[in-house]
Amino acid sequence: MRLLVTGGAGFIGSALIRRALAQGHSVLNIDKLTYAANPDSLAAIAGDERYSFLQADICDGATMAESLRAFRPDRVFNLAAETHVDRSIDDPQAFIRTNINGVHTLLDTCRTWLQEAGDEDGFRFIQISTDEVYGSIASGAFNEASPYQPNSPYSASKASADMLVRAWHRTYGFPAIITNCSNNYGPWQFPEKFIPTIVMKALREEAIPIYGDGQQVRDWLFVDDHADALLRVANSGEAGETYCVGGDATMTNLDLARTVCDLVDDRLGREAGASRQLIEMVADRPGHDQRYAIDHAKITEALGWHPACDLKEGLVRTVDWYLGQGEWLNRLAADGRAGSRLGLMQEERK
Ligand SMILES: NC(=O)c1ccc[n+]([C@@H]2O[C@H](COP(=O)([O-])OP(=O)(O)OC[C@H]3O[C@@H](n4cnc5c(N)ncnc54)[C@H](O)[C@@H]3O)[C@@H](O)[C@H]2O)c1
Repeated sequence: MRLLVTGGAGFIGSALIRRALAQGHSVLNIDKLTYAANPDSLAAIAGDERYSFLQADICDGATMAESLRAFRPDRVFNLAAETHVDRSIDDPQAFIRTNINGVHTLLDTCRTWLQEAGDEDGFRFIQISTDEVYGSIASGAFNEASPYQPNSPYSASKASADMLVRAWHRTYGFPAIITNCSNNYGPWQFPEKFIPTIVMKALREEAIPIYGDGQQVRDWLFVDDHADALLRVANSGEAGETYCVGGDATMTNLDLARTVCDLVDDRLGREAGASRQLIEMVADRPGHDQRYAIDHAKITEALGWHPACDLKEGLVRTVDWYLGQGEWLNRLAADGRAGSRLGLMQEERK
């Protein structure tokens, strides 16, 4: 298939592109290259003749329309987004722009192009969303029927996009699919997110910040398993459907931080328990959701997908990868691009 991937220089998009090329698909990657992009994640496939890259903003309708006409994709995956909850607290504007207006632009340009081309058969638009749109769940797990109750500017922007995608399908018959996944982890994630931050801080022997009491529960999905789920959805997902994707791996943030610390100690030959000593409880994130969990029965039954990598194995692979990136982590920490606290309101910073 011909796959147009937006946000393909980001964490999940780059994993999706590497896997898609390995499966024989052709890929056009459109990415604005924000601070979160890492073109190095695509260096290994940059010379592949089935891969092309365009630096562009999904809010630029003219460029999106031109790209659709020239590339004629069978599938569009939208992964372009502002993604860090803490940044959305400090500056929601960029999230509203890319995550809502950008999705509107993509929906409109794709719909117009399909009408022009007169060939809607088989095309699918796949919107990559998050379990955070469902808010917090005290027990049990979210599924496709769970009500939307977003609590952060980030999750509200993603929920808004999902509503637009749903409306474009219901109103215009636009062949769209939504996927809602849990927290991804794995190589190439920008070190402002939880797991790479822990490894970076532990490696540099700096305080490891844990928000609030650390008892918030998250489900963890290995990024390659997510990429597998997205390609299955592209192959045989049904237009108008939503699929929840989760890793069957829920853990409190504090337990996860301790596990990652212990792995770092083990890999670096440090005394057992040394990195745990660096854990420091800090002010909680405003509006912090207490618990997420995902029931992925629908995609398992419909498309035969299940998470293949368990949390233990995934964490070993992830920690080993980050420990090999010391130079990059030090550079990001040194020039202030990663490692500092974001998302606290002014009065709490004082
Ligand atoms: N990482 C997770 O745990 C997670 C969980 C659930 C859902 N998601 C969703 O998956 C998608 C990908 O997440 P990620 O973790 O890979 O994000 P990321 O922050 O690593 O990458 C986002 C990419 O989008 C690009 N981008 C941002 N704004 C753009 C714009 N206006 N035009 C074009 N490109 C733009 C960036 O340059 C970057 O390469 C997002 O939609 C996110 O909401 C992520």
